[in-house]
Amino acid sequence: MCGIVGYLGEGNVYDILIKGLHRLEYRGYDSAGVALVGKDGRINIFKTKGKVSNLEAFCADKNLDSSVGIAHTRWATHGEPSDTNAHPHFSEDGNIAIVHNGTIENYKVLKDALEQHGCTFHSETDTEVLAQLIEYIRLTNKCSLLSAVRQALKQVVGAYAIAVLEKDNPDTIIAARQSSPLVIGIGDGEFFLASDATPFVEYTKECVYLKDGEIAEIRRGESLKITNLDNVEAEIDVTTLKMSISQLEKGGYPHFMLKEIFEQPDTLRDCIRGRVVDRGSRIIINGINDHKDKFLGAKRIVIVACGTSWHAGLLGKYLLQDMCRIPVVVEYASEFRYSNPVIDKDDVVIAISQSGETADTLAAIQIAKKAGAFVFGISNVVGSSIPRETYAGCYIHVGPEIGVASTKAFTGQVMVLTLISLAIAQLRGTLTQDEIEQVGKAVLKIPTYVQRVLELADRIERLSLIFTYARNFLYLGRGYSYPVALEGALKLKEISYIHAEGYPAAEMKHGPIALIDQEMPTVIIAPKDHLYEKIVSNVQQVKARGGNILAIVTEGDTVISNIADHVLEVPEMPECLTPIITSVPLQLLSYYIAINKGKDVDMPRNLAKSVTVE
Ligand code: G6P
Repeated sequence: MCGIVGYLGEGNVYDILIKGLHRLEYRGYDSAGVALVGKDGRINIFKTKGKVSNLEAFCADKNLDSSVGIAHTRWATHGEPSDTNAHPHFSEDGNIAIVHNGTIENYKVLKDALEQHGCTFHSETDTEVLAQLIEYIRLTNKCSLLSAVRQALKQVVGAYAIAVLEKDNPDTIIAARQSSPLVIGIGDGEFFLASDATPFVEYTKECVYLKDGEIAEIRRGESLKITNLDNVEAEIDVTTLKMSISQLEKGGYPHFMLKEIFEQPDTLRDCIRGRVVDRGSRIIINGINDHKDKFLGAKRIVIVACGTSWHAGLLGKYLLQDMCRIPVVVEYASEFRYSNPVIDKDDVVIAISQSGETADTLAAIQIAKKAGAFVFGISNVVGSSIPRETYAGCYIHVGPEIGVASTKAFTGQVMVLTLISLAIAQLRGTLTQDEIEQVGKAVLKIPTYVQRVLELADRIERLSLIFTYARNFLYLGRGYSYPVALEGALKLKEISYIHAEGYPAAEMKHGPIALIDQEMPTVIIAPKDHLYEKIVSNVQQVKARGGNILAIVTEGDTVISNIADHVLEVPEMPECLTPIITSVPLQLLSYYIAINKGKDVDMPRNLAKSVTVE
């Protein structure tokens, strides 16, 4: 949530900051702003409600000359989206400007104390409190900005990534992090700062991921210095980025979401590469092979995640139970962390997160570690917090996902969970070699099969017209198709703002069946699997009540095709692999419905891709 960019160097500061903000808009986009130290020695702040494009229009006639600046795109926590609440925020004397991602939990106490010392506040944000606190300390203790930031952060409870500029010191940016990401790009005589590396990848591949509790002093023409809150100098660990600029562009597609849906044959290939070997007969997941004892000894697996990653986690439960015969529970990280969970040291906890930064998932990891469990992470973003906080893990390798609605990350997560299940089954001997090989061989075909499903796009686009004006949708599935139903409904809600509910098909008769009529489309995910006969009955039950059915079925299905109003056929796969195949048409359906309704699919209202607040 919220994106931060900073730049110190000889390049065009404003252009670099704005381009960076566009890259980070997936993190929030209800307001945006920049602070530039002008050639006149003043800090100029330009900020406005709305997307980064609004900010650009607002800045069009402004003097933007500068050699250092910080910028922000916001996802509101404290205070509604407005020009005033937008970042950057000034200290009252205009001496410092700050941008912040995170939440200062004790901001009210700090604000009251500052008000008693005569400070006046102009916004409702917790960030302005931090700006005023830093400046108050600097003036009272007559200390440097760096020292004031350090002292202020010692008083703060909560999460933050911040960047601070000082009017009289245009050669320095101070940055710090606690539970919110921040990365420093090291260029040739220039420094970049951002919530992730995407704003500076075309300028430099060298970067340093700031760690919790660290403060960076970035000085023009000098090397970077990192200390902790106790002023102990930290080692600088430089990482070389593997990301390429083409991965961050739309590549001819009208939206990132559509590009990412169509990328899935390639992303799945990347995800599988090197992990399914000997023509499908052997599965190699290093994070599992290196910790065999943990997976052999596991009495239970606990999966924690949020949003779409939670849906992948639910599929993980079906996969792991089926293949490895281990009891599995799946928890929303936000519930788990406050539920006084019973975790045993023989439990393996699997945390799933595309961004690797979701605050609730990170908190759940800390709880599991404290209880002595072995914690394994599944993430997409290399170097993000979750891979660093877990003992072992596995990347999904699907490349940057920019569309707020997750698509290729979901199929990548499900793929990795399938491979992990196979690897553990191999280790524990719960599947025969023949069974492993049968699934392993099918895994290798998945990219080609997903390509075939994508050929349905034109048909789905036409079908979407029939459904665009529905006000409610029901998505039904059983077994492996139940989490797919949940994910299909979530996709539709996220980008088209149509209410949709995912339900286990057999549970429908305990409530949702009352809602069925011609007005409410029912999407039924019904591939040929061991529950096929059961779901045929559910399809009939919906039809008998006059429901309007769109069914996702296996190629050649004649039974459901005769009952449903519309069918989309997908290739036949072993049951455990059907979710990857059946979720793709649902992604396309949501996309086209949202487009028909004129919605901004890449930046749906109120959502953010990376949720780094509770
Ligand atoms: C947000 C995003 C979702 C995502 C969820 C969890 O809500 O909009 O697409 O599934 O966060 O994010 P994570 O990065 O932990 O997978």
